Amino acid sequence: MRTLLCMLVLGASLGLSTQAAAIPPGDAEAGESKAEPCMACHAPGLDNPAFPRISGQHAGYLYYSLRAYASGDRQDPVMSGQVSGLSDRDMADLATYFSTLDGELSTVSR
Ligand code: HEC
Repeated sequence: MRTLLCMLVLGASLGLSTQAAAIPPGDAEAGESKAEPCMACHAPGLDNPAFPRISGQHAGYLYYSLRAYASGDRQDPVMSGQVSGLSDRDMADLATYFSTLDGELSTVSR
């Protein structure tokens, strides 16, 4: 019982720390103007199996994906170049903008 209680407390505090690291608020309008270079590959409705469709994807997922390319945790020759020079703010704005678009999601199959 004591162990269970400890696990519950631990779980709750982990939950809190995840929330503290949530995506900073992004501005969809600012993201729209920053997204111009992305549209060649991620325009809504574009149906090229080489590029994932990200319109309508959850902003948190998009934000953390961009951060992962920037930190090198996620490696892709194309996307690593795309994020170089983006600030945290840019990534939050881009993530928010793409999350507001309608579209069918896809991933890249390799
Ligand atoms: C020249 C084509 C190209 C451009 C331009 C481009 N991307 Fe990408 N993007 C890709 C490819 C290819 C992948 C898949 C890479 C992988 O497998 O990790 C990808 C993956 C992503 C992902 C992860 C999607 C997922 O489902 O995991 C995000 C988010 C993303 N791009 C956002 C952007 C943003 C924002 C921009 C503009 C700053 C941008 N991309 C510009 C080709 C491009």
